[in-house]
Amino acid sequence: MRLDFTALSPRTAYQWMASTIVPRPIAWVSTISADGRPNLAPFSFFQGVCAHPPTLLFVPVNNRQGGKKDTVRNIEAVPEFVVNLVSHALAEQMNATAAQLPHGDSEFERFGVAAAASEQVRPPRVAAAPVAFECRLHQIVNIGEGPLAAHVIFGRILAAHVRDDVLGADGLPDAGRLDLIGRLGGEDYTTTRDHFSLVRPD
Ligand SMILES: Cc1cc2nc3c(=O)[nH]c(=O)nc-3n(C[C@H](O)[C@H](O)[C@H](O)COP(=O)(O)O)c2cc1C
Repeated sequence: MRLDFTALSPRTAYQWMASTIVPRPIAWVSTISADGRPNLAPFSFFQGVCAHPPTLLFVPVNNRQGGKKDTVRNIEAVPEFVVNLVSHALAEQMNATAAQLPHGDSEFERFGVAAAASEQVRPPRVAAAPVAFECRLHQIVNIGEGPLAAHVIFGRILAAHVRDDVLGADGLPDAGRLDLIGRLGGEDYTTTRDHFSLVRPD
């Protein structure tokens, strides 16, 4: 079959993208509002960008009414955030924090996610996350307008907290020990426990 993306509704285009661009890593992003209230939400349109300078991106889209999500509102007010990575053990808590709460209500409190203080940014991090990147906002690029339009958030990575037990013999994180989850289409997920190696040609 062939699909003409220029003729698809945003919702249908999303469904096809979300079930073909897989697996997607999950950025579990903590922010704070202007008056200091923490917020936590998952985003699977997430990637590293470059290492010079160390930069990542994730993409909150507008809600169905065309409004900005709390994460975007918070970063516009306080341009700092933490990208926490999600292990299999944290999957259910992560999923719970995708609930839409009134602006200012904390998913940390509501869903019992233990927080730890960050060092270089004001938003707290998820204490149990295998890896947490403290980031300062680099730039927001807006794409489209209205429902499902995007705010691409680029963050400069300032620091990372890495749990010691995820490190392999070479001193770097081991994918199996990280046991991160990846988003597939619909409500499905995979883990980084299933992996294989390839030696890259010169
Ligand atoms: C695994 C997962 C991945 C998600 N990825 C995205 C995403 O990439 N972009 C987005 O806008 N919403 C995504 N969502 C939905 C948001 O988490 C949800 O809209 C949340 O309520 C936003 O929270 P906020 O208003 O506190 O920022 C995802 C939800 C889940 C469970």
